[in-house]
Amino acid sequence: MDKYKTIEFADDHLILLDQTKLPLEEEYIVSDDYKRIAIAIEKLEVRGAPAIGIVAAYALALALKFNNNSATDTFLKAYNRLKITRPTAVNLFWALERMKKIFEKHSASPDIYTILKSEANKIFAEDELMCDNIAKNGQEIFTKKSIVVTHCNTGRLVSAGGGTALFVIQKAFESGLIEHVYSDETRPLLQGSRLTAFELNKLEIPFSIITDSSAAFVMKNIGADLVITGADRIARNGDTANKIGTYNLAVLAKYHGIPFYIAAPSSTLDNNCITGDDIKIEFREPHEINSIKGVQVTDKSYPVYSPAFDVTPNHLITGIITEDRLFKPPYNF
Ligand code: MRU
Repeated sequence: MDKYKTIEFADDHLILLDQTKLPLEEEYIVSDDYKRIAIAIEKLEVRGAPAIGIVAAYALALALKFNNNSATDTFLKAYNRLKITRPTAVNLFWALERMKKIFEKHSASPDIYTILKSEANKIFAEDELMCDNIAKNGQEIFTKKSIVVTHCNTGRLVSAGGGTALFVIQKAFESGLIEHVYSDETRPLLQGSRLTAFELNKLEIPFSIITDSSAAFVMKNIGADLVITGADRIARNGDTANKIGTYNLAVLAKYHGIPFYIAAPSSTLDNNCITGDDIKIEFREPHEINSIKGVQVTDKSYPVYSPAFDVTPNHLITGIITEDRLFKPPYNF
């Protein structure tokens, strides 16, 4: 498999694989401007909870690259801009706060750019390691060669390493434990049919894209063995926010007696959220629903309601895999 690079930092520039163009075109965005990087996060050119955090960390460092004025003003301007890009994935805020602490400690240093850059590099390296350990810890959920259903995208495209849920699947496949993967297309932005399919294809894992509404059919008629997805924010009681449609899948899994797992790094756990009710859900623009790739599919004037994430209650989650271990209910993070 050629290893496409989701996020790379080279020659003091951030290089991002433009995920809005995949799988039809592999194009890269090269920038050293935090404002352009903030737009890349908003437009989902880079996406997925861990990736958003990593990229925001580099963007904050880059804000100080040409710092001619007050470092504090420049830093805070960039910090405040990045903070309003997307509200649900907590990894963004986790990374921004971590960078802010480093900035506050070293703000007077003439090397502040280098110091921030090295913290962003650390976040990148830690994420890569977390992915390895999530994949390792996730292997205990496989008791036989399995048919798996997944939602949204959770592979190399969301992280500095192999990913979360999809990396668990990849490692299981390498041990001969995957029969087939059903990838929900994940309306409206098609992270499943565009991105997960792109990754499964590169990994040569047998898969089929299904419409989101086919999951019950697959569970009843084909008999999935397990469902595994990623997460954007996990509350202390295990309630989990993930891409819209994840909750549907968890309800269906429960009905069909199929185990439902979440895989995520500890940077996705939010101590400030006691339950899922505390998680802020992002709502997206109507054009993402009423048109596809710029082609109008319904009347522009029709009202649209578009939550980008939903919260799966803890009692529907069989286990949560992190880099530490596989957690079973009752969850108490
Ligand atoms: O809107 P997106 O594409 O950023 O949503 C991504 C997801 O919901 C992923 O499942 C989640 O971030 C987990 S990725 C490890």
